[in-house]
Amino acid sequence: MYDSGKIIAGLLVFVSIIAFPFVYNIGADIVKPEPKIDTPVIQQMAVKQCVEPKEFMRAEHMQLLNKWRDSAVRDGNRVYVGSRGDHYNISLQNTCMHCHSNKKEFCDSCHNYMAVKPYCWDCHIAPKENSL
Ligand code: HEC
Ligand code: HEC
Ligand code: HEC
Repeated sequence: MYDSGKIIAGLLVFVSIIAFPFVYNIGADIVKPEPKIDTPVIQQMAVKQCVEPKEFMRAEHMQLLNKWRDSAVRDGNRVYVGSRGDHYNISLQNTCMHCHSNKKEFCDSCHNYMAVKPYCWDCHIAPKENSL
């Protein structure tokens, strides 16, 4: 004899497991990150631009950081000449995070959304944020 109650309950559990990712994504779309650039240093800039164009930074900042690290640590070169010809001191903490001092609202807002967790802050010092 089949127990139709159990079968229906089983089906309901099955359907909700299958549907979960879709239902879950509806919520995720709403909180799509909007990384904020309104830090004190960036507010002072006449031309608000990064070390490279925004589209490049968005897609390639991980590779650029690797290049910066290799340049500083392997080659002892701490000057980066950007594609626009401007010069930057190669430093995650003193250059990137000097402008992007709002790590939580900037870096973390994207990374949390994409579920990436850069391990850099195990060693590098993250900016102090106004949680005093
Ligand atoms: C001189 C200040 C300054 C420095 C230094 C700087 N940034 Fe930026 N960054 C900006 C500004 C301003 C923008 C927004 C540019 C725009 O809207 O065109 C930006 C944009 C970005 C973006 C794209 C954000 C988006 O919404 O797509 C990323 C990623 C980024 N920066 C990462 C970095 C990293 C990593 C470093 C160090 C290698 C760095 N930045 C150094 C000022 C800076
Ligand atoms: C516009 C969204 C966005 C912003 C803003 C952003 N990131 Fe990212 N970051 C990403 C994405 C997406 C990845 C994962 C890319 C991949 O896996 O190919 C990533 C990956 C990284 C990685 C490599 C991590 C790994 O484990 O591979 C580093 C390092 C990193 N980001 C540093 C930073 C820093 C530092 C900042 C702030 C100055 C920052 N990012 C701001 C979107 C962003
Ligand atoms: C195990 C500790 C450790 C981790 C984790 C780590 N770093 Fe570093 N990093 C160092 C040390 C030590 C130096 C050399 C500092 C110096 O010579 O001034 C360095 C130098 C750098 C430099 C060049 C100089 C500077 O002061 O910024 C960059 C850029 C850099 N690391 C980026 C990263 C990024 C991006 C990550 C994460 C994907 C990361 N590091 C993770 C220890 C670490």
